[in-house]
Amino acid sequence: MARERRRRAGPEGVRAQERGPRGPGRRERGAAGDARPALFVLPALLLLLLLLLGCGLYARWGPAARLVAPHASPRALPPGSTGPVAAPARFWGSYRPQVYFGMKTRSPRSPVAGLMWLQQLEGDVRLRHTCEQSDGLPRYGWLLHDGTHFGVQEIQDLGFSLQTEVVKRPGGQHGGDWSWRVTVRPERTGPTPPFISLLFYVATDGQGRLQPLIEEKSRLASLRGQTEELGNFTVTFKPPTTETGTPLYARYNHLQAMAEGLHRLTDVVKSSLRPRFSYAPPGLPKRHYFGVDVYQGQAGDRELRSQLLIHQVTVAVPCRVEVAFESGSVPDRPDRLLAETLTQELDKHVVAFEQRFEETFGLSRKGFSEQEQHFARALLSNMLGGMGYFHGHSLVQSPYTEAPQPYPAGSLFTAVPSRSFFPRGFLWDEGFHQLLLARWDPALSREVLAHWFDLMNVEGWIPREQILGDEALAKVPPEFVVQHSQAGNPPTFFLVLQQLLRQGAVEQGYLRRIYPRLQSWYGWYNHTQAGPLPYTFRWRGRDQDTQLFLNPKTLTSGLDDYPRASHPSEDERHLDLRCWMAVASAVMAEVATRVGEAENDYTHMAEWLADNELLQRHHWSEALNTFADYGNHTQGVALERERLRPPPPGQPSPIPRLVRVVRKSPRLQFVGGALGYVSLFPLLLQLLRPDSQQLGSLLADMKNKQKLWTPFGLRSLSRSSPFYLKHNTEHDPPYWRGAVWINMNYLAVRALHHYSQVEGPYREEASKLYHELRTNVIGNVLQQYLDSGYVWEQYNDSTGRGQGCYPFTGWSALVVLMMAEEY
Ligand SMILES: *[C@@H]1O[C@H](CO)[C@@H](O)[C@H](O)[C@H]1NC(C)=O
Ligand SMILES: *[C@@H]1O[C@H](CO)[C@@H](O)[C@H](O)[C@H]1NC(C)=O
Ligand SMILES: *[C@@H]1O[C@H](CO)[C@@H](O)[C@H](O)[C@H]1NC(C)=O
Ligand SMILES: *[C@@H]1O[C@H](CO)[C@@H](O)[C@H](O)[C@H]1NC(C)=O
Repeated sequence: MARERRRRAGPEGVRAQERGPRGPGRRERGAAGDARPALFVLPALLLLLLLLLGCGLYARWGPAARLVAPHASPRALPPGSTGPVAAPARFWGSYRPQVYFGMKTRSPRSPVAGLMWLQQLEGDVRLRHTCEQSDGLPRYGWLLHDGTHFGVQEIQDLGFSLQTEVVKRPGGQHGGDWSWRVTVRPERTGPTPPFISLLFYVATDGQGRLQPLIEEKSRLASLRGQTEELGNFTVTFKPPTTETGTPLYARYNHLQAMAEGLHRLTDVVKSSLRPRFSYAPPGLPKRHYFGVDVYQGQAGDRELRSQLLIHQVTVAVPCRVEVAFESGSVPDRPDRLLAETLTQELDKHVVAFEQRFEETFGLSRKGFSEQEQHFARALLSNMLGGMGYFHGHSLVQSPYTEAPQPYPAGSLFTAVPSRSFFPRGFLWDEGFHQLLLARWDPALSREVLAHWFDLMNVEGWIPREQILGDEALAKVPPEFVVQHSQAGNPPTFFLVLQQLLRQGAVEQGYLRRIYPRLQSWYGWYNHTQAGPLPYTFRWRGRDQDTQLFLNPKTLTSGLDDYPRASHPSEDERHLDLRCWMAVASAVMAEVATRVGEAENDYTHMAEWLADNELLQRHHWSEALNTFADYGNHTQGVALERERLRPPPPGQPSPIPRLVRVVRKSPRLQFVGGALGYVSLFPLLLQLLRPDSQQLGSLLADMKNKQKLWTPFGLRSLSRSSPFYLKHNTEHDPPYWRGAVWINMNYLAVRALHHYSQVEGPYREEASKLYHELRTNVIGNVLQQYLDSGYVWEQYNDSTGRGQGCYPFTGWSALVVLMMAEEY
């Protein structure tokens, strides 16, 4: 795996370095909860405190406990608000983005339903279940998905395709019914297998019961189940037919097994497959196939928390299979949601979706072709269809804890960057995701934000990568699991709040509920990421090793290997964080005003951070003629093979590593050689006055082909930078060192649009660049989608080709907003 963006947990060195400034007696700002003890308790408390301090205990115990103490204010999400009573329409959903097709409910120990499939090619049995790049599927993803009622997905495998459709129907008290339809068709993407197996499963997760109803010939025709939140229900597996409903020859297998958990389902199936079954349609030779047989895994001493029931149908391509989930509390169903009724329901939702899409984004009105609209609908649908509901606890560590601690268990409803590679919540990605979703469904965005804010601890910290539950954990190598308490991430949720406020899509009640948490979150950044001078900021958590990295990384900034000061130090001032804080302050001032709280401090901060003269003083370099970070820096660094002394006779020679050599001593200065996205931040976040000369200068850098301009969007780092396309270590290829990223290009397009709307000397220039950049980015992402079948994590700045992981319909889907000109 070449790319491990945001996976790398904070390095060892951070802990030692950050220990200093945060004394144990530090007063907490912002954290709500008024804990004024009665007067007579005070002396006793003081005494206790002294005692603890005396033992040297408090120094470790106090702050260590705060790491895992939840925020004290009432939760942003009222209890039960995601349950079947309060929100029946969203109870069931495709909330398992990490599998090709699956569903669960928005509850902590939800039973799940899913699909696996198996090609029965001679000597080549491939089981598909979780989204894996190594499966090499030519394309897959939702073509239509409205986030609530229905979805249509197309999955191209080698030699055939599966169309997986789901539609829900309200009723009863437990989130209603839903049905699936899976249609398999031959494709020219490879040799079509003579027959395939579809394996439909239902599994519990630590609660509830499933009871199989088995017909003749080992066919699991249906199952009855019962869980806490679903009450009684049945799931019916219909026999396969053609698309017009003619029955087909098929063979059946089923499996009933207990597993350690949902993350083990693939293994259970793999280890229970046996090639001893025969498939013999009339008039054709008999052939053997793999079927689920008996499961003989051993659990060791782990609890077997999942009951699993699998229905396997083995059938020729093409075919169609339907499955119906029926809730026991739906009183009388007029007709079952199958066959013709299912078709009608699906059609109804498709029409409504297309209409709502056009009302929201107006792409047809803007003259986009049918193909372009199809692409845009798929982008939005993939972000909606990629939403997950996760429950579990993070592992966290602070300078005050010796070992990682379990964070309080929590639930998270969130979109994910990539179903295959990053199927879990990422803090700064989510702000970008919600910029798109807030247009489609502001209530959904409000809910997602509230989920994230409820994961805050008493310090105002939110872990930036959320690996909750066994299924999420199974996708992350152990060394990247722990989240470090000094690690921030760009506070992009302020952009979402700004957007929701502009749309008039937040009520007082909501703002009041989240306000104490917003205060703490803001306070956490303002306090823990403060820079060396007033109104400057510094990302904590930079790599401390200056020996191996060409430039020690800053994962917390979200821009990983983007070049910063060569020698990390407390003197650093980070331009991007300062600009994020300017936005945060302005939004806080607005929210405070709305809820009638004191806004002075925020307004004051917002004014100072928007002050163009102060910005120049802290971040404009005359010598470099651009905005820049400041720190202990030298451009005279390079990676070289280390020269090792020959070993004593008879000993093997060690392999020389690539190490950093410093040819010129670092000194405090603006960080040169790093023109790119960071330099553009004052423009990207629209802090520059329209008449600012620096705006003119940044626009010139943008459109310069030797610097940032490419026919595919703005590259992350200037071609003229010494770091351009450079490896950071022997095994660490460039990431934010040249490639085109869509989230930053969205901010650029949005900012250019802004500067083309306001009076000023650069208005025309901004307008021209706006049109060109917008056309380039949309054009390339679309072209790559058509060519490769996917939307990608980043795009090559010289060829436009998609790179990194796929499908990446997280922030790359912001192309929809560029098409719609929604900023
Ligand atoms: C669920 O089904 C069982 C057995 O069929 C029945 O005894 C029970 O009353 C049902 N529960 C509800 C809530 O309907
Ligand atoms: C942010 O931190 C600075 C320095 O500690 C402080 O003066 C300022 O009041 C803080 N701003 C807010 C809005 O809390
Ligand atoms: C810059 O880094 C070098 C090398 O680590 C160190 O010797 C020097 O003291 C630093 N300069 C400042 C001003 O911190
Ligand atoms: C972009 O493609 C070119 C040509 O194939 C290649 O040399 C370069 O390394 C690629 N860029 C990145 C960032 O991988």
